[in-house]
Amino acid sequence: MLKEKLEEVRERALAAIRDASNSQILYEVKVQFFGKQGQFSALMKEMGKLLPEERPVFGKLVNEVKGALEKSYQERETALKSAELDAKLAEESLDLTLPGPEAPALGAQHPISMVIDEIVAILARLGYAVRTGPLIEQDRYNFEALNIPKDHPARDMQDTFYVDERHVLRTHTSPIQAHVLETEKPPLRIIGVGPVFRCDSDVSHSPNFHQIEGMYVDAKVSMADLKGTISHFVKEFFGKELKTRFRPSFFPFTEPSAEVDCQCPLCSGRGCAMCKQSGWVEIGGSGLINPNVLRHAGVDYPRWQGFAFGFGVERMGIIKYGIEHIGLYNQNDVRFLRQFST
Ligand code: PHE
Repeated sequence: MLKEKLEEVRERALAAIRDASNSQILYEVKVQFFGKQGQFSALMKEMGKLLPEERPVFGKLVNEVKGALEKSYQERETALKSAELDAKLAEESLDLTLPGPEAPALGAQHPISMVIDEIVAILARLGYAVRTGPLIEQDRYNFEALNIPKDHPARDMQDTFYVDERHVLRTHTSPIQAHVLETEKPPLRIIGVGPVFRCDSDVSHSPNFHQIEGMYVDAKVSMADLKGTISHFVKEFFGKELKTRFRPSFFPFTEPSAEVDCQCPLCSGRGCAMCKQSGWVEIGGSGLINPNVLRHAGVDYPRWQGFAFGFGVERMGIIKYGIEHIGLYNQNDVRFLRQFST
């Protein structure tokens, strides 16, 4: 009786295992037959009804059936799980036609470094090499070496941040000239570049800005060399035929000195808001190096003579790119900066 029941449970269990179409259903089959309330357990409880001598024989049979069922269960489970994994992998396979993840935003060169690089590139083709110097400068390099003695009224041209009695935040890049004249031998063609500081702030002035200047020292140097160099530079930098003109001026470290103007690159000299309808814009200062500066640095004058010129970097960008306000350079507004990314 019980033996037949066991046979029957075995057949049904085998069929259920075989028919289970996924591992979840298979698991339910396991619970249904072997769980605490399962059909197999129910059968075990009935074992108590058997005669004692019948029990070992039946027990052995039960174990055989149980073993066979476990084996087929495991085989089915392995087969189902691997089929399910294959299906899952097939479903998850890469769709190469989908758009890629959004590219990370690219950074861009700041317009100040861009203008510096553009200027350096042009002068480098003329044989100039870049030099830098300290931002906290000794008074004697920022002023004395450049023929600006203490208490000289020319110091008023540059509102100075004093660090202590002997040090200032450099007010221009010209002290780089003084360092180079002291440490390097002529002939010289150098570019001095970097931040400078002045106690001065309004729409067109910022207390810190950048300058770039050139210094040329050779055996025979005249204003014609200076004019030729700057005229060439202006055409290269603005990318068009623009005239350059000199206006007499004064700097303690150059003699003669000249303010440099070029035709307004925005309107090509016709007159516009940027050049205040004059057709000309001022781009910097220049002149022949004052013999006092050369002698102060120990350079043998007149055997060696030179010219120098200096531009404001921000101002050059304003003129070339029509930047409206010097403050834009420091605001780091990406909408402004992105206009310069190439
Ligand atoms: N150093 C001057 C300034 O800052 C500019 C300049 C440089 C003038 C070189 C002449 C020669 O105003």
